[in-house]
Amino acid sequence: MPGPLTVADFIERTAARFARARLHFGHGTDNARDEAAEAVFFSARIEHREAPAAYARTLSAPARARLERLVAARIRTRRPLAYLTKRSWFAGHEFLIDRRVLVPRSPLAELILERAAPFVEAARVSRILDLGTGSGCIAIACAHAFPVARVDATDPDAGARAIARANVRRHRLRSRVAVLAADVYEGLGRRRYDMILSNPPYVPAGAIARFPPEYRREPRRALAAGPDGLAVVRRILAGAAARLRPGGVLVVEVGESARALGRAFPRVPFLWLEFAHGADGVFLLQRHELEAAADSFQA
Ligand SMILES: C[S@@+](CC[C@H](N)C(=O)[O-])C[C@H]1O[C@@H](n2cnc3c(N)ncnc32)[C@H](O)[C@@H]1O
Repeated sequence: MPGPLTVADFIERTAARFARARLHFGHGTDNARDEAAEAVFFSARIEHREAPAAYARTLSAPARARLERLVAARIRTRRPLAYLTKRSWFAGHEFLIDRRVLVPRSPLAELILERAAPFVEAARVSRILDLGTGSGCIAIACAHAFPVARVDATDPDAGARAIARANVRRHRLRSRVAVLAADVYEGLGRRRYDMILSNPPYVPAGAIARFPPEYRREPRRALAAGPDGLAVVRRILAGAAARLRPGGVLVVEVGESARALGRAFPRVPFLWLEFAHGADGVFLLQRHELEAAADSFQA
């Protein structure tokens, strides 16, 4: 007679249900099995670091009931799993997440974990700006990676700032990470930075209606950026040189809007970063390059 179902069995069964329901993955996981593992671990209150030993455990009745409710809600609502579990990971750190913020997934995590080598000398980085911070994930990951730097985390959205502040408290970084209201650079006073990092909104407004339901559950303000997706990026570029210290760098994720950006600014020497995990659509510019290209950014 087969024994009671294990964590591994529930992961396989849940993955099969997710696949049958034709869910879309891309919010921290990119396939049914990884998302099923997070659903089972969350429901059974197992830490991910307990894998693979935990696969052989059985699930208590309350854990099975929690899993059933979670899986049913994921399939019925098509909300990203992170909005149901209220948690997600970025650069190896856990974050509180809800529907007021984008679910963290930026390839900038890899650059931060490498302390932006070889583009900056990490020991000399003392001020960082995370423009459009959402959950605060980029700012907080930077504060962990650059342990003496002060980080400004900005967002015009009050809901996003509330989540970012909760994450700053949770990571005990209140002395080094400031969460500020700002519209691109408006609201920052005269501060200047060694690094400006941003994963801003960059989706052409009309494209959102064609997204899978999971993406349409995320805040529109986090995604949509005018008819060509470049409304916020143009303003970031135009003001960056004045906001960077000598030797400073600007790093911005623009995803699929990279081609539109290249067409809009053909003379700007964007350096498109390569990532071990295969992502693309992230450019880097040095302050002197931004200064040399200043004419291109005039409206
Ligand atoms: C794509 S989300 C990125 C969130 C977070 N940095 C991440 O990587 O998960 C973009 C964020 O930029 C914010 N945002 C939108 N318009 C902005 C603006 N004009 N200035 C600064 N941030 C803005 C949104 O509220 C949202 O939180």
